[in-house]
Amino acid sequence: MSDWVLPDEILAEAPSHTPLPHELADLELLLYGAYAPLRGFMSEAEARAVTQTGVLPDGTAWPVPVTLDVPIEIARLLDHPDPKRRVLRITDPEGAPVAAVECHALDPLGPDMVRVGGPVRRIADAAHGVFTGLRATPDQAKTTYTKPRVLALVADRPLHRPQLAQLARAAHNLAAHVLVMIPTGDETNGDRDLRLPTAALVRSVLAAKDRLPTATVLTVPLSKRGDRLRDGLLTAKVAAAYGATHVMTNRDGLGGGDGVRAMVPRELAYDTRDGQWRPIEDIEPPFRRTALSEAEIADMLDRGFGLPEWHTPPSVAAELRKARPPRRQRGLVLFFTGLSGSGKSTISRGVYDALLEEGTRTVSLFDGDVVRRLLSSGLGFTRADRSMNIRRIGFVAAEVARHGGIGMAAPIAPYEADRAEARRMAEAAGADFVLVHIATPIEVCEARDRKGLYAKARSGQIPEFTGVSDPYEEPPAAELTIDTTEITVGEAVEQVLEYLSEGGWLEPTGMRLS
Ligand code: ADX
Repeated sequence: MSDWVLPDEILAEAPSHTPLPHELADLELLLYGAYAPLRGFMSEAEARAVTQTGVLPDGTAWPVPVTLDVPIEIARLLDHPDPKRRVLRITDPEGAPVAAVECHALDPLGPDMVRVGGPVRRIADAAHGVFTGLRATPDQAKTTYTKPRVLALVADRPLHRPQLAQLARAAHNLAAHVLVMIPTGDETNGDRDLRLPTAALVRSVLAAKDRLPTATVLTVPLSKRGDRLRDGLLTAKVAAAYGATHVMTNRDGLGGGDGVRAMVPRELAYDTRDGQWRPIEDIEPPFRRTALSEAEIADMLDRGFGLPEWHTPPSVAAELRKARPPRRQRGLVLFFTGLSGSGKSTISRGVYDALLEEGTRTVSLFDGDVVRRLLSSGLGFTRADRSMNIRRIGFVAAEVARHGGIGMAAPIAPYEADRAEARRMAEAAGADFVLVHIATPIEVCEARDRKGLYAKARSGQIPEFTGVSDPYEEPPAAELTIDTTEITVGEAVEQVLEYLSEGGWLEPTGMRLS
């Protein structure tokens, strides 16, 4: 933490900025001393050095950039002739000040953003985020350790019996205290097969707490950068700051370094003779049950099958069932995309009506043209306005899905980045996301031209018209693609309903009325 003195009048005049969630998470780790010896955000030169060589210019090894970027308008306010007055006040998402940055570096990043580097200082305790009661500074955590050796585990997925047994065995062999760090810096955790919103991950790990009676269990606002090697090294840095002597690695064997010894867990299996988990090679094949994969666990939850007790403690299984209910009850965002006149509105309306008739699911439909009359009224068709339109629709649909409903959307949504953002919002709400690309070719849409818009677009009366004078990025990975050139609306509707039935979101097709 910084030792500079910050006079109140400088702080009072300092411009305020609310960083992005991952920047706030980094800020918190800096303020806690969990990123020691780092004391602040990196300049652009430092960030580049770290990315290229894994070492800061002063020789400190550091695996990932830790940066803060602000809009140019804020950076201009910071560019004070007196360097002592280059202070940025950091506010949490609700606008309450939490920290200050002494801006040693102001490095332009393109025309709009500036990278702010310099030490950070706490103003007030950050109150935002779930399970703040489980946070602790390294010094606070260290008071709970009962043994000189400390074995850390970053629990970025729930702990089933095999992981609990691995942890218990390793702790026993090392005679180590166990430190479980649950990462809360990302909004979801886990791999593609089984992603959990952060609060659900914390609850699932806590549900195994009675199996770890002497362990220290903390939440740590660690977030993933997406590079597994560097993420593993960062984990080791933070574990070291928390006083860990050993860290249990993830499945790739990554995670050691920085004076912390990596513990590569042995693969355990369930021995049906006595119900113990022991090294897989110590059990003869007829009596051996291997651990379930994430994909198998996800599939069982999706179908509403209980997780077997030999594999998962019932308290953990109950949390997972809550976090990931069977698909028939789980929220879903059903997102249609396609050109104007492709048939999105008609097909989505048909699916909506069928869902209302069936009556087992609650459903809200956000059609492109209808949304623009209320939710997105005032927005035009520039790239920025279209993005805002899709983000608004994605946000509202995700809220519907958060509460177990089906949120349907049918805008053009021409940009992949915006569709990806809608998917992210749904997943963060613990819901599924199904993208239906109505891939009717432009020639067919234009020949139909039900609203006469293509004619107007061709004659220049409507500028920036999607497919004519504005881009449409084809979705690279839609769950379902339907070209309506040769099929009726009813057939297209049936294809969507069948997809939903086969995936388990609806009753099987045979049980539906029509
Ligand atoms: S999106 O690009 O932001 O997803 P949205 O689905 O809301 O578009 O609105 C598209 C509808 O607005 C079209 O069906 C059409 O009726 C109308 N529209 C008006 N101007 C344009 C334009 N320049 N490009 C596309 N659609 C337009």
